[in-house]
Amino acid sequence: MQNLSYVDPQADSPWGTFLAQVDSVVPHLGHLARWVETLKHPKRCLIVDIPIELDNGSVAHFEGYRVQHNLSRGPGKGGVRFHPQVNLEEVMALSAWMTVKNAAVNLPYGGAKGGVRVDPKQLSLKELERLTRRYTSEIGLIIGPDKDIPAPDVNTNAQVMAWMMDTYSMNTGSTATGVVTGKPIPLGGSLGRVSATGRGVYVVGRTVANKLQTPLQGARIAVQGFGNVGSVAASMFVDNGARLVSVQDHSATLLNDQGIDVAALVAHTKATGAVAGFAGADSIAAEDFWNVSSDILIPAALEGQITEARAAQLKTKIVLEGANGPTTPAADRLLKDRGVTVVPDVIANAGGVIVSYFEWVQDFSSFFWTEEEIYQRLDKILLGALEHIWQTHVDLAIPLRTAAFVVACTRVLNAREERGLYP
Ligand SMILES: NC(=O)c1ccc[n+]([C@@H]2O[C@H](COP(=O)([O-])OP(=O)(O)OC[C@H]3O[C@@H](n4cnc5c(N)ncnc54)[C@H](O)[C@@H]3O)[C@@H](O)[C@H]2O)c1
Repeated sequence: MQNLSYVDPQADSPWGTFLAQVDSVVPHLGHLARWVETLKHPKRCLIVDIPIELDNGSVAHFEGYRVQHNLSRGPGKGGVRFHPQVNLEEVMALSAWMTVKNAAVNLPYGGAKGGVRVDPKQLSLKELERLTRRYTSEIGLIIGPDKDIPAPDVNTNAQVMAWMMDTYSMNTGSTATGVVTGKPIPLGGSLGRVSATGRGVYVVGRTVANKLQTPLQGARIAVQGFGNVGSVAASMFVDNGARLVSVQDHSATLLNDQGIDVAALVAHTKATGAVAGFAGADSIAAEDFWNVSSDILIPAALEGQITEARAAQLKTKIVLEGANGPTTPAADRLLKDRGVTVVPDVIANAGGVIVSYFEWVQDFSSFFWTEEEIYQRLDKILLGALEHIWQTHVDLAIPLRTAAFVVACTRVLNAREERGLYP
């Protein structure tokens, strides 16, 4: 029988992917390499039991997690995922990528993430509310506006954030808007938050395409995942002259060489909950998605999707990571050899956490900005960070992901060193 520590990865787990990514950065850390084990040990992992009464009167138990991977540079920040496959290793990896992402774009945050192992589609709205409130109460020990600030991720949204904010506020006895971001606007949410991640994917993708002399006019785009991130990114590419040729979600894979009518697909998805049954494209086998010829491929669903075998078939120039951790380390190496540019998640999808940061700042100052101000500031931070990472990639002749990790891990470990070890 195996006797693994919780920091030992299972084969092919997202946490294993993260550890391999950290290993690739060690040669570039200089004297800070001494601190690298910090990144391989999450600071704090909380596992909670969430019992709720179902509408039929029975009681069900769910597993909940909140992991604070690193708090050297500020309070924890990262989303909450409701998904039947959530487990500790996944949440550890997602929290670690938040550490790197927040440092890569230089936000004053550490990295955290949470999740509940549940299929929310099986719950009624009232059951979902009870689950969210009990989960929030259980992790209330370690979250707070200056401790750790959750936000939406897969299958969580502004309504879930409103319940979290209300529960935390009830437990602490004062209205704490800054405890979560991605809230509804009337509860201290920020304009622009809902579309921020997809917008960031587009802005980063456009800039990288420009550097690689790939014109967006007529560019072929393929997107996996047509939720918050995938649908907004796809819409912005199409609004700026590109053609959406293929979309895959959990229900179906669509292909239309002439370009899918993205507005009609968004309306169809809103009405039915998925892309299946959309009349404006052909349906193809799921695995064929990875053979579709494109200029930019945007994985915007779950982690571990671009495996080595799929990477061998990809017919694209740029992989623009909207999802967190969609590419395995073996696939990364193969794509590098094949000359495909991979724009890593920690910069490509950082738009969401940047506007979450704006929301938190606005909540603290109780002074709210216009959408125009938000987008201006978002683009400035994102493009400034991309430029720094791009220059590191050129100067050190390393892939963009390694460059992003060099920039981020240097910041995190510098903070670690300057703070010193307690006691
Ligand atoms: N929402 C944000 O602000 C944000 C920020 C940064 C990163 N991300 C990451 O982006 C990704 C998507 O998040 P989201 O907020 O758009 O979630 P979402 O729940 O809105 O959408 C998820 C999409 O993925 C699809 N999907 C699920 N399983 C699939 C499968 N097996 N094959 C193909 N498609 C599948 C779903 O059908 C849906 O279209 C996640 O990796 C998330 O961590 C989200």
